[in-house]
Amino acid sequence: MLDVNHLRDDFPILSRQIHGKPLVYLDNGASAQKPQVVIDAVTQAYSYEYANVHRGLHYLSNLATDKYEAVRGKVARFLNATHEGDIVFTSGTTEAINLISYAWAAPRFAAGDEIILSIMEHHANIVPWHFLRDRLGVVLKWVECDPNGDLDPSVVLAAITSRTKLIAVTQMSNVLGTVVDVAAICQGAKAKGVPVLVDGSQAAVHMSVDVAAMGCDFYAITGHKLYGPSGSGAIYIHPDRMVEMRPFLGGGDMIDQVTRDMVTYNKSPMKFEAGTPSIVAQIGLGVALDYMMKIGMENIAAHERLLRDKAIEKLSELNFLTVQGTSPSKGAIFSFTLAGAAHAHDISTILDQKGIAVRAGSHCAMPLMQHLGITASCRASFAMYNTFDEVDALVNGLMLCNDILS
Ligand code: ALA
Repeated sequence: MLDVNHLRDDFPILSRQIHGKPLVYLDNGASAQKPQVVIDAVTQAYSYEYANVHRGLHYLSNLATDKYEAVRGKVARFLNATHEGDIVFTSGTTEAINLISYAWAAPRFAAGDEIILSIMEHHANIVPWHFLRDRLGVVLKWVECDPNGDLDPSVVLAAITSRTKLIAVTQMSNVLGTVVDVAAICQGAKAKGVPVLVDGSQAAVHMSVDVAAMGCDFYAITGHKLYGPSGSGAIYIHPDRMVEMRPFLGGGDMIDQVTRDMVTYNKSPMKFEAGTPSIVAQIGLGVALDYMMKIGMENIAAHERLLRDKAIEKLSELNFLTVQGTSPSKGAIFSFTLAGAAHAHDISTILDQKGIAVRAGSHCAMPLMQHLGITASCRASFAMYNTFDEVDALVNGLMLCNDILS
């Protein structure tokens, strides 16, 4: 059981007030707050340990390189990847999926090849595939979730044809909170020889991830949702896929030799990391992952299950509220609309006046919004430091919204 009040002391921002009210931060799906250890690590790195990595022979460059490279192993442990060389650093999930699109898919896919996407995908797992549709003529095949927001793995697998080259699917919907059985998708896809890319942006912060057991080919994470700095992130790439990849961004660090007429490349994973990286952000990510692993992903998940259960119970008592996504495998992410013409932006503004931060809009998931028949919703997304009192604060805030807007 988490000692949440104690844990909250690790996050300085949680003690501040917004509009004279204690901050109730429920926008974790957009970005999580940072514990002091991460803030300190970033300050320490910039203050006393900063230099470029992989390039110098001087003390500070070696120190920065050691600290930066140590994070590869931490990410591998966090995801239970077999080798740290299976981890490519990126600026986040968006860059990670674009990398796979450009470096792995583009050289291998042809017109008429199919990519299966779920309707719940974030734009980061849609638009890079649209680029391939435009450039190569690949076909995007969409699989729908059911009315609860569940994605049945057998529906995904039934969409596979002889032209299917990839399944790209989220492990957790950033709108509905649905946790997808990606292991079942990976298993079934593997039997048919189809690689699977899993968008772990939302899931990895709420549950332990085991890419070895899951059997995915690609698993992308983003540091700023994992209590780490923005601009940090990584992707696990199965070794069989890594050797199939061609370099994407060209520049320093990703090369072995460059002459006037030719270039040879560094070994993987550096081959896919051109230019000076987000050195300090990645160091901060390593500290954030250590912090989470010390608390224990099972402990985090258990606390968030209780928050989810209380939120389901309390929100279901509000007869003016419609929650999108009622899957039994829902995590602690709640998107909702109010009866009548209340706009999500107005709800968010009223909640903000009470110190409650939520997200409003289409949540970078327009195909899902179209599927749901709405243009916008409000979203409350919980994290390990949220409390049961904050669920009550949200419910009280929503009752106020209903009074004002109905
Ligand atoms: N992907 C982030 C969200 O869902 C930004 O809010």
